[in-house]
Amino acid sequence: MHSDQIVRTFTDYFRERGHELITGGTLLPPPSDPVLFTTSGMHPLTPHLEGRPHPQGRRLISVQRCLRTTDLDEVGDRTHLTVFEMLGSWSLGDYGHEQSLRWGYELLRDGFGIPPERLHVTVFGGDDEVGPDRRSLETWRELGLPVELTREDNWWSHDPVGLCGPDSEIFVWTGGPGTPPQGSPTTDPRWVEVWNHVSMRHRRHEDGTLRPLQQPGVDTGMGLERLVTVLQGHNSVYDSDLFEPWTEQLPSLWTLDDTSTRLVCDHLRSAVVVIGDGVRPSSTGRGHVLRRLIRRVLTTLWRDDPSRTLSDLPGEPLGHTLDHFRQPGGTGRVREVLRDEERRFGRLLERGRRVLARPQYKGPLSDDDYRCLHDTHGLPRDLVTTLRAS
Ligand code: SER
Repeated sequence: MHSDQIVRTFTDYFRERGHELITGGTLLPPPSDPVLFTTSGMHPLTPHLEGRPHPQGRRLISVQRCLRTTDLDEVGDRTHLTVFEMLGSWSLGDYGHEQSLRWGYELLRDGFGIPPERLHVTVFGGDDEVGPDRRSLETWRELGLPVELTREDNWWSHDPVGLCGPDSEIFVWTGGPGTPPQGSPTTDPRWVEVWNHVSMRHRRHEDGTLRPLQQPGVDTGMGLERLVTVLQGHNSVYDSDLFEPWTEQLPSLWTLDDTSTRLVCDHLRSAVVVIGDGVRPSSTGRGHVLRRLIRRVLTTLWRDDPSRTLSDLPGEPLGHTLDHFRQPGGTGRVREVLRDEERRFGRLLERGRRVLARPQYKGPLSDDDYRCLHDTHGLPRDLVTTLRAS
């Protein structure tokens, strides 16, 4: 199944069950939101899960692009991404959690063709405050799926204060053909979580108390890249069709080890999406995140060969990414931003090398040295460290 078909299968399934697709999906939250980038599908819906009516009704779905910088150091392995998409479904005080679990199961089995033997679920087993999630347990038992009970792993909350509730996670066995499922989600990593169904029915207050929401809801989220990877039988998200033009064209342009190739693909693709949403490199906020992404790519490329340049990037991966994320404006603008940042970074490195060659910076550096290098010469600490190590 191609990724486009996977997305369509998801949206069609829920539309047939009365859900409205939320459009928009930009990475940038509204100006009143203190968060730099949208980090999950449910983030834009938080006020509505707390009770504010949504203009599109009580049954919603979305395909939301998200950006997370918390995992930046893990990017380069087989699964972590900076920009990714989430398929989400919501009941805002409409149907209950059990219904959501039943639909989830049906879609994975009939829509995506995953045999029930390859599925395992987890359910909240209760803690000192809240009892076990018996209704989910019963629902899964009726559906005939193996269940594992956990505590913290099945209690969803985003912040110490705010919405929270028990969740039920659906895992798919990825042991490969000829290897029957073994163990359980907490004992065997070949069980890969694909879908989280949260029963959003509590609110944690400032004083630590937990109170039921007047209007309990359901919030589900499924990472698209992971789902596509599992359904297409790949080992790594980079092998899925979502990355095709990147992973096909970059290795012939620049010879890098596998980890660096993945990092360059992820960061460039993410940078294209961030630029496509209107962000420009700068020294603060969103622009700083974009700058870091581009500069990490350049640092990786220039480690072996300083003559490499983003000007050589073929147009196809850029265009493919803009099309996929439905971003207007064409590749010319993206190229301009990338090239401009490359020139700036190149000049900064040159200046940095000249400054660091001075005798006073030869030995170990004090905090005052770092401050002076930053304030007077515009050289951030991590750049100084990189330059001194090279
Ligand atoms: N709140 C859940 C998550 O973040 C589902 O959207 O995974």
